[in-house]
Amino acid sequence: MSRHFLNLTDAGGNAIAAMIADAIDRKAARAGWPKGKPDADRPLADHVLAMIFEKSSTRTRVSFDIAIRQLGGSSIVMESGSMQLGRGESVADTAKVLSRMADAIMIRTDDHAKIEELAANADVPVINGLTDLSHPCQIIADLLTLVEHGKSLPGLEVAWLGDGNNVLNSIVEAAGLMKFNVRIGCPQGYDSDPEFIKQAQAAGANISVHRDENEAVAGADVVVTDTWVSMGQEHVHNKLAAMMPYQVNDVMMEQAKPDALFLHCLPAHRGEEVMPSVIDGPQSVVWDEAENRIHAQKSVLRWCFGQI
Ligand code: CP
Ligand code: NVA
Repeated sequence: MSRHFLNLTDAGGNAIAAMIADAIDRKAARAGWPKGKPDADRPLADHVLAMIFEKSSTRTRVSFDIAIRQLGGSSIVMESGSMQLGRGESVADTAKVLSRMADAIMIRTDDHAKIEELAANADVPVINGLTDLSHPCQIIADLLTLVEHGKSLPGLEVAWLGDGNNVLNSIVEAAGLMKFNVRIGCPQGYDSDPEFIKQAQAAGANISVHRDENEAVAGADVVVTDTWVSMGQEHVHNKLAAMMPYQVNDVMMEQAKPDALFLHCLPAHRGEEVMPSVIDGPQSVVWDEAENRIHAQKSVLRWCFGQI
């Protein structure tokens, strides 16, 4: 049975803690090296990662490509539009073929059911590089960034401001697994997935939803936001006005703890979900967060192959 990484729960809290520790060690061991140079132990030597993109990507694409190279392997990157998948070949058949040709598959797609179907038909690990439902790889990098910056995850107060999207779903899922709390400041009608909230609450995390943005951010250790318009939602018109009170600006950051960190998975829209003074300011760790996608992906890949 292959180890698929479709959501954070597939790995669980202990494995996530081990992934973060592994990423910190491996990052330190190659500090200052050229980015294309393989790690000394090449733990996935000669392994090929096939990547399918049904949506745009900069960080996920480049970080997985660099990650597999640093682990000693190589990658093939495909846009679904240039694959037979884009002309109607089934997800199941694509999974079977790629399983014979590559050692692992990463996919960025829209409907989460597609990645489930891919995983059900693949004989190699399948990794979620973002779906409309979740973005688990991003959250491994986010947690790594928080730990690197001295935050201890259990009991951490994380404030999310803005749209209840795929990134938030995975943060909520992580809260249940790693025992931190999430205060969601979000307008009515744009809430995140209730199943993720229920699951995290059942695991003991305190997850609260606030229409008052000040309530959500007060005393937070971490402030997180993301685009108000996710990929595939470009037709949404009235959303920006509804989101405006939840913009992360200096007034918002002043209500969080003085040492609060600001996270954003990127790409950012300055003047919409975040003001330049915050994302380019001293509390922002977004560039570490982006770099950590590489180190996090390496841990995810190693977990998929039973090395973590
Ligand atoms: N954060 C993130 O997943 O970025 P990309 O869309 O550029 O991959
Ligand atoms: N919520 C965003 C994340 C992009 C990395 C989207 O789905 O477009």
